Amino acid sequence: MKYYITTPIYYVNDKPHIGHAYATFIADAFARYHRLKGDDVFFLTGTDENSTKNVEAAREKGFADIQSYLDLQSEAWRATWKELEITNDDFIRTTEERHKKGVEKFFQLVYDKGDIYQGTYQGLYCTGCEAFLRETDLIQGLCPYHKNRPELIEEKNYFFRASKYRDALLAHIEKNPDFVQPLARRNEIVNYIKDHFDDISISREKVKWGIRLPIDEAQVIYVWFDALINYLTGIGYGWDEEKFIRYWPADVHIVGKDIIKFHCALWPAMLLSADLPLPRHIFAHGFFTIEGQKVGKSLGNAIDPVQLCGEYGIDVVRYFLFREIPFGGDGDFSEARLRERYESELAKGLGNFTSRVLTLAQKCPDMHCGTAKLPAEKKAASAAADLRYAWEKGFDHAALHESLTAIFECITWGDRFIDQTKPWILLKEDTASAVQTISILLELLRQLSLYLYPFMPHTAGEIRTQLGLNGDRIPERGNALLAWRAEPIISINKKDNLFPPLIPKA
Ligand code: MSP
Repeated sequence: MKYYITTPIYYVNDKPHIGHAYATFIADAFARYHRLKGDDVFFLTGTDENSTKNVEAAREKGFADIQSYLDLQSEAWRATWKELEITNDDFIRTTEERHKKGVEKFFQLVYDKGDIYQGTYQGLYCTGCEAFLRETDLIQGLCPYHKNRPELIEEKNYFFRASKYRDALLAHIEKNPDFVQPLARRNEIVNYIKDHFDDISISREKVKWGIRLPIDEAQVIYVWFDALINYLTGIGYGWDEEKFIRYWPADVHIVGKDIIKFHCALWPAMLLSADLPLPRHIFAHGFFTIEGQKVGKSLGNAIDPVQLCGEYGIDVVRYFLFREIPFGGDGDFSEARLRERYESELAKGLGNFTSRVLTLAQKCPDMHCGTAKLPAEKKAASAAADLRYAWEKGFDHAALHESLTAIFECITWGDRFIDQTKPWILLKEDTASAVQTISILLELLRQLSLYLYPFMPHTAGEIRTQLGLNGDRIPERGNALLAWRAEPIISINKKDNLFPPLIPKA
């Protein structure tokens, strides 16, 4: 099955911070999960470059040529994802020719449909949000996200007849209850569409940077109307029809809760107008804050994810971000919490279980044995089957933290199994039973490595290597590996502890 997943495309005036890394790691985990299951995955990310704030940043930095600033910044984002080992299949930039062509094609379709008209707009514009805000959105006159005073703008614009699609959208959400997840966001969107989803200005007269309107060269296309189309142009819309047909509609758009209105209302309305199928799901995650404040350039408290991953390892940071807050909720980022989880869950939990099993295996005279009929084997296989069920359910219902919890429950199960069967005594008294018990544990560990893969790809590979299996080729081997005892474990290659003690911080 094909599986197409996207992240939002990022504004390049900022550099990647922990919140952006969180969004991208989430999409990466989904992409890895679906590759592991054997799906034909396409994972897209990229940069949103036709925004006024990018242009302002270029000027502030003294760039006479805006495009060269954008090139430099976009490259920094691409390099960050490479360093963080994100497995995106393409990287789309909205200043690329392939994107521009697709936007023009899309605009023309909507225009020909009669859904674009001219009017005058007056409103409060926040450049941070790149959106008009209502008085009621403001807190003491300020944008709640960017804490700035929006600018009063009046100009001649072109409008998109969004309101025409209000009923169709509501009907779609009603018919597809999992279109927007989690549920709280779905309710928020339904209320928004009912009460506030009006026609929207989709061009700017005074803005000079951006894609020109095909019907009026004096105007540029509103940055959101342009940016959302990246989800089409990134897979060939307007430049590779075959690829586009193969992957569209998107299976999941991963978005932050701050941009759901654009993704769950404007975007589907645009697609309905262009007679294109709607994305299957939109999963909205929550926000990481630092001491209660939104992480971001405007507040100047960004944490560099590359530096953090350099210190603790990519897997540890991924684990922490996925585990710390239930998908959809908000959470506060704290290095102390990360260290706590490292010690208690990774070192004492996963690391210790791996080490226990491999140490026993090293003492085991023979690892070849068919134990399929033993009750203990059946129990372990059934624990693994429960894990698989919960793991899949977590991914299918945008509840990654539940998949991860299921993995750690299975580790606890494994630890208990060791305590109860006492293989170290069996090794002395009943070699045949010891071999069978240890063989079950090795298989459980192999299973765990696969389930861990979408979350902690390095750790998964490392466990497999220590089990004498090929650690690098997990995704291509797909679903078959998940079956109980799909791969024989015949030699152990135990190495150092997966999670050595942390050096105390001064
Ligand atoms: N360019 C638009 C998206 C266009 S998509 C067609 C944009 N860019 S952004 O760079 O400002 O934000 C990108 C994503 O990062 C958003 O989903 C946003 O929610 C997410 N995050 C930014 N800060 C965040 C946190 N502190 N925590 C979690 N995610 C956050 O919006």
